Amino acid sequence: MKALEERILKEGKVLPGGVLKVGSFLNQQIDIDFMMQMGEEAARLYNDVKITKVLTIETSGIAVAACVAAKLHAPVVFAKKNKSSNVGNEVYSTEIHSYTHGNDYTAVISKEYLNAGDLCLITDDFLANGCAVEGLIRLCEQAGAKVVGVVAAVEKGFQGGGDALREKGVRVESLAIVDEMTDDGKITFRK
Ligand code: G4P
Repeated sequence: MKALEERILKEGKVLPGGVLKVGSFLNQQIDIDFMMQMGEEAARLYNDVKITKVLTIETSGIAVAACVAAKLHAPVVFAKKNKSSNVGNEVYSTEIHSYTHGNDYTAVISKEYLNAGDLCLITDDFLANGCAVEGLIRLCEQAGAKVVGVVAAVEKGFQGGGDALREKGVRVESLAIVDEMTDDGKITFRK
């Protein structure tokens, strides 16, 4: 999505450790008109399939998912990050590793909101190593729900999570793919 690439080039800041800061429109301050354009693009990319749920994980994924879901007229369901792994019977749960934070956490979704027969579009703000998406796929498997695809606002191509999912046959459409970021702030997008 050209407009997203231009916005990243204009406002994105490359931080040490390969982190792209986009707090001015995506992560902390949210430009909702722009996010709705992103939602429209995501809906256009997936206009060939039926989607019954837009699935994400708290926190930053929720705003993107809401804008995608508004265009698809489907509900958003978000996994909660549970502080303890001692979860009850009424939820689907899985362990997720975060390379960025160097920790593991338990992601849970109430069984009430994810069902066999659901057709899920997994959405997130960033797709880096892909651990969060893989965790959401496992939650869908537990529920017997089908994953129709993944849409990330920003895929960090150099971390390989998106391509690993594609190799496994998962449909991944990212609105912008950053293939390289240099310490002096140069950002290169995948063609
Ligand atoms: P992965 O799921 O693709 O493996 O990613 P990883 O665990 O490494 O990422 C951890 C968190 O950091 C995620 O949010 C992810 O969205 C975010 N993140 C990863 N790379 C970047 C980046 O370059 N820039 C920004 N701004 N965020 C990045 P989270 O910890 O779950 O936080 P939140 O959603 O609760 O805010």
